[in-house]
Amino acid sequence: MENLDQLREELLASVTAADSLDALDAIRVSALGRKGRVTEMMKGLGGLDPEQRREAGQALNAVKTAVADAIDARHGGLADAALDAELAADRIDITLPARPESEGRLHPISQTFDEIIAIFGEMGFSVAEGPDIEDDFHNFTALNIPPEHPARQMHDTFYLPEKPDGERLVLRTHTSPVQIRTMQNNPPPLRIIAPGRTYRCDSDMTHTPMFHQVEGLIVDETTHMGHLKGCLIEFCRAYFEIDDVPVRFRPSYFPFTEPSAEVDIGCSRKGGELKIGAGDDWLEILGCGMVHPKVLAACGVDPDKYQGFAFGMGIERIAMLKYGIPDLRTFFDADMRWLRHYGFVPLEVPTLLRGLTP
Ligand code: DAH
Repeated sequence: MENLDQLREELLASVTAADSLDALDAIRVSALGRKGRVTEMMKGLGGLDPEQRREAGQALNAVKTAVADAIDARHGGLADAALDAELAADRIDITLPARPESEGRLHPISQTFDEIIAIFGEMGFSVAEGPDIEDDFHNFTALNIPPEHPARQMHDTFYLPEKPDGERLVLRTHTSPVQIRTMQNNPPPLRIIAPGRTYRCDSDMTHTPMFHQVEGLIVDETTHMGHLKGCLIEFCRAYFEIDDVPVRFRPSYFPFTEPSAEVDIGCSRKGGELKIGAGDDWLEILGCGMVHPKVLAACGVDPDKYQGFAFGMGIERIAMLKYGIPDLRTFFDADMRWLRHYGFVPLEVPTLLRGLTP
């Protein structure tokens, strides 16, 4: 056995002399590591007789502990010194230009909703909402579409599984049920728009199973067809940003309005290119009419006292027209390249408001 006192002094001296964390670690390995000097001596204890082994074992353990403690202490000192040196040398260069942040885009549906809300907001409409899952009464019956009515076939309805009591809820096929809920829960006068998701079991170039609509409703004692026309003509001008956009009201049929009309805007399709606001062609953009007395009555509103108009339009359709987006299905592909191209810079106030705010 080496002389333990000498070994200890030698190791402690080298610990004290270690001038870096790496040097200290090398000393630790050479003394206490698996093949270190102290470790090897520990292994040698097996050859001694029991009495000697106990004494030598204790002495060796004392050396080991002393060296380990010294290494720990030195390690603390060296680490502090290394940190001090690093802090002294390290400088934040505040002249470096900032890394560019990647900026998101608003989906054209969100942008179009914002624009529509801004336009009707200026006309005094507030926003109403209703559930995506509707009952038969709100989606159909109260809108003057009774159970055997042929209009039910025009809506390719998604039905939910039948409930124990036999009721079948639906995914709303249009935003018109929000008219019903609004009239049930609020006394006239009313002036609301209801933007939201709608669902029909349909999928091709021009239909997706989920799409968006905006509904409009005015109910009071005096609003007439002239107001309906003025309001929607004004909307078309503001939305398409064309002051003299030709607008045509074409007689039509909806169960929930009487009389009913569809609104077309003037366009041209020369050379396969669609141009809005000029030419001798027409493009349908929304449905409207005077609220049917039966609809008012179904909501507890007296049709002899109150009247008003309603309208409904597809958001994707008017977004495609304004922003030249050719394929409906791309709205829902979640393709970042598409969104970067057709999306809008967020935090920008919608077109109309930008002109109107001080
Ligand atoms: N709900 C109709 C649809 O989805 C759109 C509509 C037409 C709504 C005329 C109305 C309206 O409020 O008056 O096809």
